[in-house]
Amino acid sequence: MSDENLDRGAGSGAAAGHRLSRRHLLFGGAAAGIGAASAVGIDLATRPARAARRGAQITAPVAGAADGSETVAFYGPHQAGVETRPQAAVTLVALDLLPETDAGALRRMMRVLTHDAARLTQGQAALADSEPELAVTPARLTVTFGFGPGLVARAGGAAPAWLRPLPAFAIDQLDDAWNGGDLLLQIAADDPVTVAHATRMLLKDSRSFTTVRWRQTGFRRSAGVEKPGTTMRNLFGQVDGTVNLVAGTEDFDSLVWGGADNPAWLHGGTGFVLRRIRMNLDKWDGLDRAGREASVGRTLATGAPLTGSHETDEPDFTATTAIGFPVIAEFSHLRRARSENRGERILRRGYNYDDTPDASGVSNSGLLFVAFQADVDAQFVPIQRRLDELDLLNQWTTPIGSAVFAIAPGCGPDGYIGQTLF
Ligand code: HEM
Repeated sequence: MSDENLDRGAGSGAAAGHRLSRRHLLFGGAAAGIGAASAVGIDLATRPARAARRGAQITAPVAGAADGSETVAFYGPHQAGVETRPQAAVTLVALDLLPETDAGALRRMMRVLTHDAARLTQGQAALADSEPELAVTPARLTVTFGFGPGLVARAGGAAPAWLRPLPAFAIDQLDDAWNGGDLLLQIAADDPVTVAHATRMLLKDSRSFTTVRWRQTGFRRSAGVEKPGTTMRNLFGQVDGTVNLVAGTEDFDSLVWGGADNPAWLHGGTGFVLRRIRMNLDKWDGLDRAGREASVGRTLATGAPLTGSHETDEPDFTATTAIGFPVIAEFSHLRRARSENRGERILRRGYNYDDTPDASGVSNSGLLFVAFQADVDAQFVPIQRRLDELDLLNQWTTPIGSAVFAIAPGCGPDGYIGQTLF
């Protein structure tokens, strides 16, 4: 991060009015102080006074700087991790139920999982935490549980019609190693150590009821390195996530939490789709900048539509070039992904992945494309169908995994996730 950026960050905390230089952060007393204080949960606000008494020179922390003590409420009508501003790191795990895990066992498992998830998200050690020191930095940890068709059937509940594998698409090259599952855990936080610890604790809880089907890890920019509200970039370098449902709006409530047609146990919940999409970075290397921008219909520099200058400008699909071609091509991802039907919208909350390259060094990277929507058939499928028929981006992307889960509603402190189903 440049000095300029640090200065900008400090300046944005108007009340603080302090400026931290890179040198000061790296070599000044503040660096050690901030780290140590946040690690043990000391209120930074009390530090300047104490430091002044000791005669030490101290600079207030950058406003909005990463602070691992921040928590996201676990209990409520909806599970956290959907409306939550996406954290920097995610682990998605799909579990399969053991044959002997009956409805009673499911209930026991979900009680234990809920209890430990609630504790961990609030910075408290899990019940049988073997490394309790790792639990004290929640870093906005959320744990979100999703139920696959197998689990709903085992519980004896009614599944919404969309809770099944997605229809086959021509672009798919699915590897069963990344498909399906009975129980989904979406574990996300602004710190990968927190995610790893929570994942291990929850897998210990579920061990006697399930086996691990797959695990996928993803990341975005680390917390604090970009201005809050910056749209994520994927590994093609594109601004990805500009046009999205916004938490707290009526559209969000109806298109994510709605679903009046869903079975009663799912009210307050939503639908979850994961597409593991390989992005061929090496093939992408062969494409010039104009080609890259044409494939989506937006600029790489700012994410603005090719007909505008700001990221959030509305695209003008009627604009044409001097020789009469649309400025935003018919085959661009932007055009194909957008629907005339306002009901066909989804919440995208994806993460990059970057796994072991092949022996020759060719990348094994892509997007964990995560979408939330009340009705997968009515919202996700038509978009995916259009992209399947035509989308220039398909030249460089390949879906290699696919899974659908029902995200159960939230619960109160006396309840557990899934109580409405079991
Ligand atoms: C690796 C695969 C993909 C990449 C790299 C990608 C990238 C992008 C980018 C750069 C944008 C433009 C900025 C924005 O509004 O976010 C975009 C928009 C969008 N994408 Fe994708 N995308 C991928 C897969 C998908 C899939 C699988 C779907 C759904 C089935 C999808 C649905 C959308 C939607 C709905 C928009 C917003 C369109 C609008 O402006 O109304 N994308 N994507």
